[in-house]
Formats: sequence, C-alpha cells, structure tokens
Amino acid sequence: MQTGIQHLHSGMAYLVLAGLIAVFIYALIGALGNRNFTDKDRKFGLIGLIPLHIQLLVGIIIYFISPLGFSNMTSGNAMADSVSRLYALEHPLINIIAVVLVTVGYSRAKKLTQDRASFRSLYMFYGIALLLILSRIPWSAWM
Ligand code: HEM
Repeated sequence: MQTGIQHLHSGMAYLVLAGLIAVFIYALIGALGNRNFTDKDRKFGLIGLIPLHIQLLVGIIIYFISPLGFSNMTSGNAMADSVSRLYALEHPLINIIAVVLVTVGYSRAKKLTQDRASFRSLYMFYGIALLLILSRIPWSAWM
C-alpha cells in the first residue's frame, strides 16, 4: 500500500504544479488585461486549489506510513541530517503553509468586489505558494 500511495503522491505533484502555474498565468493575464472577474474565472482558480487539497490529504497519509515521515521525526536525530529534516519537517510544514495561502487567495478572490483585486489575489497567493512548494520539493528523489 505504501508504494501505491508514494506513486500517487509523486504523480499528483505534477498536477499540483501544473494547476498552480496555469492559474498564476491566467490571473496575471486577467489583471493586466483589466478583464471583469466572472464566475468562470473563480472556477478556474479551482484548477490550482483542488489538486493541492487532494495532495495535502495524500501527504498526511504518507507522513504516517513512510519511514521518512513521522516515525523518523520521533526517532530523535532527524534534525541533524538535512535530508531527514526535509522529509520529516520542512516539506510537510512548508506545504501546509502553501495550502493555507492558496485557500486564502481563492476565498479572497471570491469576496473582493474589484475585478483587478480578485485577479491579484489569485496570482499573488498562488504565486507565493508555488515558490514555497518548489523550495521544498525533494528534487533528487523526484523526477
Ligand atoms: C501539497 C503539496 C505537496 C507536494 C507538491 C508534494 C510533493 C512531493 C514529492 C514530489 C515527493 C517526492 C516523491 C518521490 O520521491 O517520488 C514527496 C515526498 C513526500 N511527501 Fe510530499 N508533497 C506535498 C505535500 C506533502 C504534505 C502536506 C506532507 C505531509 C504532511 C508530505 C509528506 C511527504 C513525505 C513523508 C514524503 C516522502 C515519502 C517517501 O518517499 O516515503 N507531502 N512529496
């Protein structure tokens, strides 16, 4: 089961990154073009939000079944080694912050009344989340 979940988490990462990049570019073009923020634009924001939320759930499961996750964190010396620290602490924590940012950006975009501010909320929050996620991907193990 662990291998299946690992493959799912690894494959979903492509979808997550593609979704965030797509919404970031789309919202930036919308803001620069001074377009009206419609319900279609709100729904486009879900392309970044939904895969990310699914990835969060898969990540939490993997954290408790992988030897690199919680069990490593509680083993005592995970903080001394940079790779252990990445899997046990930095990757999960930074990604949870990224999920919160994307959720806030999406909710703000829905509520704001100025069209440009709605687009800005999407590209700024999704853009920062994207950078955070990219900064803590275990690149050497992935791809
Ligand atoms: C939300 C965005 C996330 C993305 C884009 C992401 C992406 C990735 C990638 C690309 C890998 C390497 C997979 C491989 O070696 O093939 C990985 C591994 C891992 N991730 Fe995530 N992750 C995310 C969230 C999380 C969260 C929230 C947690 C925990 C709460 C988590 C826990 C882990 C663990 C424990 C591993 C190591 C699994 C193993 O090889 O045994 N991830 N993640």
